[in-house]
Amino acid sequence: MKASAPVGVFDSGIGGLTVAHAIGERLPLERIHYFGDTAHMPYGERSPALVRRYAVRIARHLVDKGCKALVIACNTASANALDAVREEVGDRVPVLDVVAPVVARAVASGAERIGVVGTRATITSGLYGQLLRQAFAAGGGNSDTHDVREFATPLLAPLIEEGWHTNDIIEPIIRGYLERAGFAAGDLDALILGCTHYPLASASFSKVLGGGTHMLDAPEAVAEALAEVLRNHGLASEDQRGEHRFEVSDLTPSFSASAELFFGTGLKLQPFDLWAD
Ligand code: DGL
Repeated sequence: MKASAPVGVFDSGIGGLTVAHAIGERLPLERIHYFGDTAHMPYGERSPALVRRYAVRIARHLVDKGCKALVIACNTASANALDAVREEVGDRVPVLDVVAPVVARAVASGAERIGVVGTRATITSGLYGQLLRQAFAAGGGNSDTHDVREFATPLLAPLIEEGWHTNDIIEPIIRGYLERAGFAAGDLDALILGCTHYPLASASFSKVLGGGTHMLDAPEAVAEALAEVLRNHGLASEDQRGEHRFEVSDLTPSFSASAELFFGTGLKLQPFDLWAD
């Protein structure tokens, strides 16, 4: 595998562009080949078996196209399909997910009372809670001081795609979810934003929870983890960056408009019908 090859990044749709953007900032010499499965989003409402089937097919596509490493830039696919993706392509390229780097940061932050928000399929998997509890137990934490609570917030991703992540519509919805989960402001040391859409709404979460709750999300942590993996595998690009490629399995004007929100600058989505037969 050549260092000049692109890094494959995929998500159920356009949320993973928050991670792609951070990779572009942290590793400006790297070329990104992004795939957003807009034909099948939201993955958060699908069964684990279906998410695995989609993720494995996309991974094969990106690696067959020559990607040197793969980033599953979707919490739902990371939580439900990481093993299956590694089984499919892990002997050809390193595969990174978005859960492990954020869990590592949460543990390193020293937070003891941690909330996790994400899609229904991410929260149902229980993966964040499992990894955090394991890390707490390994570090000698006990259940009197350490607490992890996960809750699904499925209305948020569509609101964020609509561009409503910083207005006064999203805040009562966040507040409603927190109340339903039994939290009051000040109850949490940290909140893991366990969906690649949510970094855009970080300020709104902070407003509802108060400044004492530390927000943890994937983009920067994953870009850092990728830098380390590429270095360790001798795969870090040393040449001037080429063109990124952004493919989606279904292209509509609204996806194009939302994509700019997530990537921060203009980008051209290309339709690619991976599911043609
Ligand atoms: N971007 C996906 C994630 O990080 C959520 C969107 C979806 O449900 O497809 O979980």
